[in-house]
Amino acid sequence: MSHTKLVNNMKNIIITGGAGFIGSHVVRLFVNKYPEYNIINLDKLTYAGNLANLKDIEDKENYTFVKGDICDFEMVLELMKKHKVDGIIHLAAESHVDRSIKDPFTFARTNVMGTLSLLQAAKIYWESLPEKYEGKRFYHISTDEVYGALELTNPEGIESPFTTKASSAHHHAYGTEFFLETTKYNPHSPYSAAKASSDHFVRAFHDTYGMPTIVTNCSNNYGPYQFPEKLIPLFINNIRHRKPLPVYGEGLNVRDWLYVEDHARAIDLIFHKGKVADTYNIGGFNEWKNIDIIHVLINTVDRLLGRKEGEDLNLITHVTDRMGHDMRYAIDSRKLQKELGWEPSLQFEEGIEKTVRWYLDNQEWMDNVTSGDYQNYYESMYKNR
Ligand code: NAD
Ligand code: TYD
Repeated sequence: MSHTKLVNNMKNIIITGGAGFIGSHVVRLFVNKYPEYNIINLDKLTYAGNLANLKDIEDKENYTFVKGDICDFEMVLELMKKHKVDGIIHLAAESHVDRSIKDPFTFARTNVMGTLSLLQAAKIYWESLPEKYEGKRFYHISTDEVYGALELTNPEGIESPFTTKASSAHHHAYGTEFFLETTKYNPHSPYSAAKASSDHFVRAFHDTYGMPTIVTNCSNNYGPYQFPEKLIPLFINNIRHRKPLPVYGEGLNVRDWLYVEDHARAIDLIFHKGKVADTYNIGGFNEWKNIDIIHVLINTVDRLLGRKEGEDLNLITHVTDRMGHDMRYAIDSRKLQKELGWEPSLQFEEGIEKTVRWYLDNQEWMDNVTSGDYQNYYESMYKNR
């Protein structure tokens, strides 16, 4: 079918959730790398959206910010018509598991209904064009959490059978199973249930209407501009200010960490070269027990602040475990490496050092977020435009 042709002349692209953590890295990469593309960042600016994340590119000719809710179907359809949009890279979502446990409705609304609203707007607009779906792309960014949780069969860690440039020097795997693209969906949290549902809708739009969709499922990201409710930025900030570090349960849960810019590079590659209707898992074979990563954070912050290394280990405070806390995530990304030649660029030890340095050097960014001041940035920047 013609619509399975690779995209090579994509010009007008909506990136949703571009003011968030991963989205801001994707917007920056596309705006800088593709001056011939028009990049439209559609973001509602919820508590997680921060335009200060994009200060360095906000005046570029090929960048437009639109404040809007992806659930607003009419607005999305008008936006697609106005900008003659031929590609959507969809990152907007409610993304924090703990919030989803408290308020699942918001997650169903944005992650499920919001995705459906984008899909339906894209369908109506693209089907109205003479070329229909030719040269179009709907790329949905998802998570490994839709696959559920893996068992911790090797709590002390074994030599990982696979590595990438991103793998930590310790090369540990904490079990023998990994999430493959074919792994059955088995989400546990309201967050992952909503993401799973949105993934199904995206695939249904390909299977039913022939929309050229792609879905990718990535492991935990770390790096600059992450909202400090997630483990790594929260703990770096708390260590700096010598506040308690709330470790859920024993801290034995395992996450597979990838530097955010390596995720953004994968998204660029897959958006342009990925096979329509396909799924790619993204991850660097880099598993860490929470408690071990927390030790690395304490040692690194202390060293960089000229404190005695490990001086702040006493901040570790074990608190009640998260409800339904998934034990282990571990992505098998060999398909992406083999088929599209993706390789992460940054080894974990380098990446975490760079990340800690960034948060310590950008205390103003952190203060604006923790004080809530970042929410006035839109008013001051865009009110006269
Ligand atoms: P984030 O919470 O930092 O950012 C989400 C962005 O979406 C914010 O800018 C927010 O304002 C915007 N948004 C929320 N609701 C919206 C709505 N209704 N309309 C328009 N915009 C809205 O999230 P993130 O960590 O950058 O994650 C981005 C995407 O990547 C999500 O889809 C998430 O599921 C996925 N993902 C995240 C990770 C991770 O480790 N953070 C890993 C794999 C996949
Ligand atoms: P998080 O950054 O919320 O990502 P996710 O739940 O999507 O993997 O949490 C990473 C891990 O850290 C997870 O196992 C929960 C744990 N955690 C804590 O122990 N304490 C905390 O304060 C937070 C936010 C997370």
